[in-house]
Amino acid sequence: MPEFQTSPGMRDVLAPESTRWRRFVQVFADVVEAAGYEQIIPPLLEDIGVFSRVGEATDVVSKEMYDFVDKGERHVALRPEQTASVCRAFVQHRPTLPWKAWYTGPNFRYEKPQRGRYRQFDQVGIEVLGVTDPGLDVEIIALGWRFFAALGLRQVTLRINSLGEPADRQRFTDALRDHFTTHLDELSPESRVTLERNPLRVLDSKRPEDAPVISAAPRIDDFYSDTAATHFEAVRSGLTSLGIPFVRDEKLVRGLDYYRFTTFEYAGGTLDSAQNALGGGGRYDGLVEDLGGPSTPGIGFALGLDRTLLACDDEGVFGAPARRLDAFVVDTTGGEQAIVVTDTLRRAGLSADRAYEGRSMKSQMKAADRSGAEVAIIIGPDELASESVVLRDLRGGADQVTVSRHDLVDRVRTIASTRSKDHS
Ligand code: HAM
Repeated sequence: MPEFQTSPGMRDVLAPESTRWRRFVQVFADVVEAAGYEQIIPPLLEDIGVFSRVGEATDVVSKEMYDFVDKGERHVALRPEQTASVCRAFVQHRPTLPWKAWYTGPNFRYEKPQRGRYRQFDQVGIEVLGVTDPGLDVEIIALGWRFFAALGLRQVTLRINSLGEPADRQRFTDALRDHFTTHLDELSPESRVTLERNPLRVLDSKRPEDAPVISAAPRIDDFYSDTAATHFEAVRSGLTSLGIPFVRDEKLVRGLDYYRFTTFEYAGGTLDSAQNALGGGGRYDGLVEDLGGPSTPGIGFALGLDRTLLACDDEGVFGAPARRLDAFVVDTTGGEQAIVVTDTLRRAGLSADRAYEGRSMKSQMKAADRSGAEVAIIIGPDELASESVVLRDLRGGADQVTVSRHDLVDRVRTIASTRSKDHS
């Protein structure tokens, strides 16, 4: 056992998985940038106040935050999510509205690690500030849906709900508190604790003993104002127009306190149910104000990169790419030629690698085979003398030809472009 290893819930991501991560983010960027979103890169660390406004009553903030006092006596926290950071950035910089931003990067929550749940996990997400139009809710939910489709995922379920306007949500919360308090004896000890902090979250309980009390609880539908009911109806009708299937889930309350109106979640078909939320989001009209800005509507979602890739594995889609190189240079004349030829190829926009330490021809050829290159470029004393190289096909068979150094770049380029067409 090495003396140092990653902390629990934290992982190294090595190739080819790291290449897959980068592609994942690229596919996401392509989908959302085509819809007018621009990237924001907020810092990993913020004043703790930015996150405590997200909701003191949530586990994410009250139990799971990595916070500490820095050398300047500032109480700071590693971000547990990025919606609050985006709103803080809006208040700080006041970009023109509507502001459509996307982001990616790690977040930190001190949770109990297990498959699909880590202490450092990555998300991709979007947020829009300054728009109340339910058409935007539809756009946002659809972009997440289209992104999963672009990855090739088929078993995704979309669940949607509305928590109504703040006053509706408040009246509903009060009614739930009354109901659950009346039936306190029938609730699990865990739900009794949850009830004290946030009656809405009791609806989330999956414990069988809570089920009868929950199913007899007041229903959010009876608390909507006209505005909230109309908004929700417009969202449902928009999704139907786009042919995006969804399930209405009136118990979908989400784990953060800032939500108003629309909430939604994408669930994967194959992960354990506790970890099957691939992503989620909703409206948070009010959060910008809580962070000291003007009253500004907001909506967005975040998708868990780690969990979505697990779902891809389970469905056998969006696999890790095989290693690919155009050429691998084998030089048995001392290594100087390898330096020059790899540099020439790379400057011509081709990918090339080589062996080091002046190893034997046999061991360099082994390295060439392992490299994933299309061709080996072999330079021995004869080739050095005649200013040529031997090109050996590493994929199709053992064909080899001698070509002049002068023609090398063109020959490799031709092979590389024919092959990349074959791969696509
Ligand atoms: P969230 O539901 O807390 O929402 O997280 C979104 C997604 O991040 C989850 O569905 C899950 O895939 C992933 N995730 C969360 N915690 C972990 C973990 N410990 N390990 C692995 N993956 C995890 C938010 O973060 C909100 N900021 C979403 C949002 C954006 N709402 C409005 N705008």
